[in-house]
Amino acid sequence: MKNNETYLEIIGGRSLHGRVCMHGAKNAVLPLIAAGILTKETVTIKDCPYISDVDVMIALIKSLGADVTRDGRNVSVRSRATHASVKDALCKDMRSSMFMLGALVATLKEVELDYPGGCRIGARPLDIHLDGLRRMGATIEYTDTGVKCAAKELHGANIVMKYPSVGATENLLMCATLAKGETTLVNCAREPEIVSLASCLRAMGARITGDGTSVMHISGVDELGGCEFTPIGDRIVAATLVCAANICGGEVEIDGVGRNMLGAVCDAVESKYCKISGDGNSMRISSFGKPKAVNVTTAPYPLFPTDVQPQIFACSLFSDGVSTIKETVFENRFAHAKEFIKLGADCKVESNVAYVQGARSKTKAIKLSACDMTASDLRGGAGLILAALGINGKSRVYGTEFIDRGYESVEDMFCSLGGNVIRKTVR
Ligand code: EPZ
Repeated sequence: MKNNETYLEIIGGRSLHGRVCMHGAKNAVLPLIAAGILTKETVTIKDCPYISDVDVMIALIKSLGADVTRDGRNVSVRSRATHASVKDALCKDMRSSMFMLGALVATLKEVELDYPGGCRIGARPLDIHLDGLRRMGATIEYTDTGVKCAAKELHGANIVMKYPSVGATENLLMCATLAKGETTLVNCAREPEIVSLASCLRAMGARITGDGTSVMHISGVDELGGCEFTPIGDRIVAATLVCAANICGGEVEIDGVGRNMLGAVCDAVESKYCKISGDGNSMRISSFGKPKAVNVTTAPYPLFPTDVQPQIFACSLFSDGVSTIKETVFENRFAHAKEFIKLGADCKVESNVAYVQGARSKTKAIKLSACDMTASDLRGGAGLILAALGINGKSRVYGTEFIDRGYESVEDMFCSLGGNVIRKTVR
């Protein structure tokens, strides 16, 4: 650990009680801010979370010459970009720079983007993004550090996506709103964040149907206008809290996300010891803190979300049987498993499947003990926090810079529910 590095000191073993309000979803807000450069008018995205990915997105858009300001939880993009060369660290920092590609090609006709490259959870290629842009008339040239896209005029196209990529769907959707003619996106992503983006684009004057299904139709328009838009609540943060209550026990209420957005997660968690109720925009978890063993496979929405895989993995550590967790979306998203083993967990990963013997099983004595762990990606870090909350004693979670990308004051969120989580600095 380096001096001045921050970590979370967690004293686990306490149940959670209280109510948390979900702010705008990270994975909705990022493409929405990018959509702001599709028009010369002002687009204001409301209820944005205070997380570092939003700060980086704002810096990225500023670097493109657009006028963007933040006023509390509202981010306003007041103009289009003036130039389109997104180089250096900003791109490397965050995958979401790719959302720029479609919006920039649609408005400036040429863009050069440093390749955001892979990250710790996988290679994350961009072939689906680039194939769709080509079909709409863009030329793609690979440079030493990234890609250069140009299109004198973008035209509508029939695009069949080989995989329902969330980012590629968002990129191509934004591009198609200003392309000449009709575009069909087949096998597109169906995540609620796609519907949120399509709703905002419609408020800007775009003509889109089919969002939330596997086929979207877009009729290009000459220009888009401004709007004020409130994104959906963060269903991944909500799912993280569902898993935390499942592990710790207690009564937790979540406002701003409805059970309908987390069906697969609720199905995996619910048991006689964990009941989840709610309506279209709130949830209530009542838990005895006795997670059941699970058999989960991650997949595109509406199936079990890959962004909740580390969190359900953490639940399985405390179950009464053997769990299997299969990761099919990213090829390297089990970094948290080696950290769980430091706690004394009985788990192993073979290819893309994790097998976990829960600590409450009768057949094997497994004792989980508090210890130091280090996050190496955003949702993996959330999983480490949940495991620490479920174990009596003092654990430390390092790598807060990953966690802060997607969780707003994660320590305050859990402390507001009675958890004992303190952010400290290495001296
Ligand atoms: C979005 O990433 C989310 N990020 C991710 O959340 C989420 O895990 C992912 O969707 C899946 O739901 C944002 O929305 C900012 P993909 P994205 O394109 O768009 C492959 C978090 O923790 N693929 O759906 O990058 C890719 O390699 C983050 O909040 C290609 O092969 O995900 C991956 O294996 C992590 N070619 C799979 O598809 C492409 O051109 C899913 O990727 C594009 C993707």
